[in-house]
Amino acid sequence: MTATMRAAATRVLERNWRGTYTVPAGGLYPHQWSWDSAFIAVGLRHISPRRAQIELDSLLSAQWHDGRLPQIVFNRERDDDYSPGGDFWRSETIPESSAVSTAGLVQPPNHALAVLLVHEADPAESRRRRFLQRAYPRLVAWHHYLRSRRTGPSGLARIVHPWESGMDNSPYWDAPLAAMTETIVDDVPRPDLQHADASHRPSNAEYGKYLYLAGRYRDHDCDDLDALSPYQLEDPAFNALWARSELALADIAAVLGDDASAAEHRENAEQIAHALESLWDEGLGCFVARDLLSGRLQRFRTVSGLVPLLLPDLAHTDALLQTLRGEHFALGQVALVPSHDLTAPTFDTARYWRGPSWFNTAWLVAEALDERGHGSEARALAEQMSSLALTHDFPEYVDPHTGAPRGTLDFSWTAALSLDLSIRLGAR
Ligand code: SER
Repeated sequence: MTATMRAAATRVLERNWRGTYTVPAGGLYPHQWSWDSAFIAVGLRHISPRRAQIELDSLLSAQWHDGRLPQIVFNRERDDDYSPGGDFWRSETIPESSAVSTAGLVQPPNHALAVLLVHEADPAESRRRRFLQRAYPRLVAWHHYLRSRRTGPSGLARIVHPWESGMDNSPYWDAPLAAMTETIVDDVPRPDLQHADASHRPSNAEYGKYLYLAGRYRDHDCDDLDALSPYQLEDPAFNALWARSELALADIAAVLGDDASAAEHRENAEQIAHALESLWDEGLGCFVARDLLSGRLQRFRTVSGLVPLLLPDLAHTDALLQTLRGEHFALGQVALVPSHDLTAPTFDTARYWRGPSWFNTAWLVAEALDERGHGSEARALAEQMSSLALTHDFPEYVDPHTGAPRGTLDFSWTAALSLDLSIRLGAR
């Protein structure tokens, strides 16, 4: 069955390939997205290690002078098909930006992890093309941006927009967005609704706040010095991926023969993992987000709060596994891993990050389970990913109870990550 998966996933990734990068989905997301590209490269490496390198090279070459890797690199020919696009961001007028048209926000830092996995797929080709030599300094600059421009006294990086979490309408952001008095009510374009059902997407009220926050950040030249920004939060998955990527940077530095830097990256990873402790919620049995403006923890069980399972030597592993297997996420009894607590009043089977199960988070959880010696649960997740992907034409996300497809279809990371696990964990 891996052969069937390989053929079908290859078709999706070919269709969404644009010469130097892969769009997440041709209609709904017609540009290059930052954390999508990293996840996509993890699967592309099995089809063409060189193409996987090019995918990451193209994203890294859009890096800003301050080190940030932008959330979106725009294809200006598709400006009318997505909002907010290149015209909205006008990044060419922002001093720190790169030469290409991009958004000013960022996304979770999964890139060093992807670079390492792509290198390992074909070390000889990687060496020949000097892939790590090119990527490493850019990844170091990206992490330096997070440390110097986004990290406060807690030792955790903050996000300044829900889009930066990658989990746009997570219940974590409900109270912070409700506390904002500013919003945009007129002229909130929703081209996304031409490609996905409105009940699967964030609401218009959320979009009004998203656009206000994005516009405000742009109008401050995306400089991170806007102390009055009405949205500043610390997210567990964002920070766990940062720590995990520091560990990947340690491995990359070791491959490049730089043992001193490798030790520094390991130290950085430990510091972030230690700082994550302040987001631990003993009562809920998982990590949560913190609103830096109110100082309040956002006490919801979401899949973001399980992602720290990826970190070795985590004090709360047993409690997290219990939460994953119990009634709130019901591992093995529902489709993949729900994005939100199945028992919460805020749970929604269809609406984006408020309940549906996504393939990237299933991949992260499967990785963590496999590394922790729970191979059969990891393989079961990989099996589910393959079968849901093949049955429903690679859906963006699925209803946890029925497995029914939600969002758009032919979604690139669904193809890439299902293929990756089907090869590595011997799923179908
Ligand atoms: N997830 C966002 C969207 O739906 C952007 O990152 O467009």
